Amino acid sequence: MPETSAQSETTKPAANAETGKKIFIKTYGCQMNVYDSTRMSDALAPQGYTETQDITDADLVILNTCHIREKAAEKVYSEIGRIRKMRDARGAGAKQMTIGVAGCVAQAEGEEIIKRAPIVDLVFGPQSYHRLPSLLKDVEAGKSVVETEFPEEDKFKHLPAAKASVTRARGFTAFLTVQEGCDKFCTFCVVPYTRGAEVSRPVSAIVDEARALVAAGVCEITLLGQNVNAYHGSSDKGGIWGLGQLLEELAKIDGLARLRYTTSHPRDMDDALIAAHRDIPQVMPYLHLPVQSGSDRILAAMNRRHTRAEYFELVDKIRAGRPDLALSGDFIVGFPGESDADFADTMSLIRDVEYAQAYSFKYSPRPGTPAASHEDQISNELSSERLLELQTLLTEQQIAFNASKMDSTMDVLLERKGRETGQLTGRSAWLQAVHIDAPETLIGTIQPVRITGVTKNSLSGQLITG
Ligand code: 5AD
Ligand code: SF4
Repeated sequence: MPETSAQSETTKPAANAETGKKIFIKTYGCQMNVYDSTRMSDALAPQGYTETQDITDADLVILNTCHIREKAAEKVYSEIGRIRKMRDARGAGAKQMTIGVAGCVAQAEGEEIIKRAPIVDLVFGPQSYHRLPSLLKDVEAGKSVVETEFPEEDKFKHLPAAKASVTRARGFTAFLTVQEGCDKFCTFCVVPYTRGAEVSRPVSAIVDEARALVAAGVCEITLLGQNVNAYHGSSDKGGIWGLGQLLEELAKIDGLARLRYTTSHPRDMDDALIAAHRDIPQVMPYLHLPVQSGSDRILAAMNRRHTRAEYFELVDKIRAGRPDLALSGDFIVGFPGESDADFADTMSLIRDVEYAQAYSFKYSPRPGTPAASHEDQISNELSSERLLELQTLLTEQQIAFNASKMDSTMDVLLERKGRETGQLTGRSAWLQAVHIDAPETLIGTIQPVRITGVTKNSLSGQLITG
């Protein structure tokens, strides 16, 4: 997924604007990190911090890091090097700049970061974001702070109360974390080590936060979790609820027009969730369901806990209830021991399933994961060849999926002004970007649009009026 810098349009009380400090957050990796960056910013707002997009103007710089693939730690160290140069260039009279490293690299590297880059004042993992104000006080008192413990209890204390989420509503779509961590232990993946064991938030906390977001103008919510469909939260109405039941409850909120969730594991697509796709109109017909490989041998070596045939069965079952469902996936090529035949199995799975969109990666050994110590690592050259072949096929499928929408009429949630004057940009139910000419007054509404143009990455169309 792309790297982004956290955006913010929050307005803070005037007193803070006068006397307050500036925070710059650079976010790497997945949507969970984007959500976490807004949480950090919200946690610091009462202390008078406002966000800046200009790092040279910042009192506090936070790198919210991702450790999932390729030389993540190295990237962070070179970014810290650049920040040091920039800070030194500000000269002796300039204001202080505090530097923090958060996220999964912080969790994985811990103290090592301050040893290697003494310019860093604060290293803190995903479980300590709610304590950022007090951690900063320790830094101000002259301490170097490293906070990477997993708390024994109340793992969700660090998530915002419903009220805090209102400051987070920065548009018409929002993320909402319902579950964190993962117990699956795929042999290539660091997540179970950096994010810890799977924990679900109680239903009432999620519903309260969703209501607050809707009250602040949000009409589309994406539920987040490293293994979101393993959700099993306690409900005041009794028992433990799965994601299907949670979606049903959220769909009752007036004004909440669209629901999505990511990222799912095939093993956790239970019947209630499959039924939710069939029965709940607010649940969008788009599903990110990573399979990683089409070879049974590799799936077993990855500890994915399902076979190729079971994945096909599952896809058929979901599509039976929701024939227009668009599927998206993640693929890894060059997993240790992957033969030409294994790779051919992945290519044939892709041909059979037909993806609307996908992410694909060369296997990258993550220190501490079981697959990293396999002897039969695949050469970078062969992995690159396979990745190119696989991405060519996935791109063809993405173009074909977009082309299939030509001349159709669809609902589009108009989210913001487009690049051209008079243009608005929104999203289809299938998560495609759609550009249309329409007045700004329609931003934040869902409108019927006739599709008149398609490209690899977006659709264009005309508003259907009257
Ligand atoms: N190497 C390559 N890709 C990986 N992913 C996770 N770990 C690795 C790794 N070690 C990919 C998987 C996962 C996505 C978020 O990142 O495809 O679904
Ligand atoms: Fe990593 Fe996803 Fe496997 Fe969990 S299910 S270990 S997050 S790839």
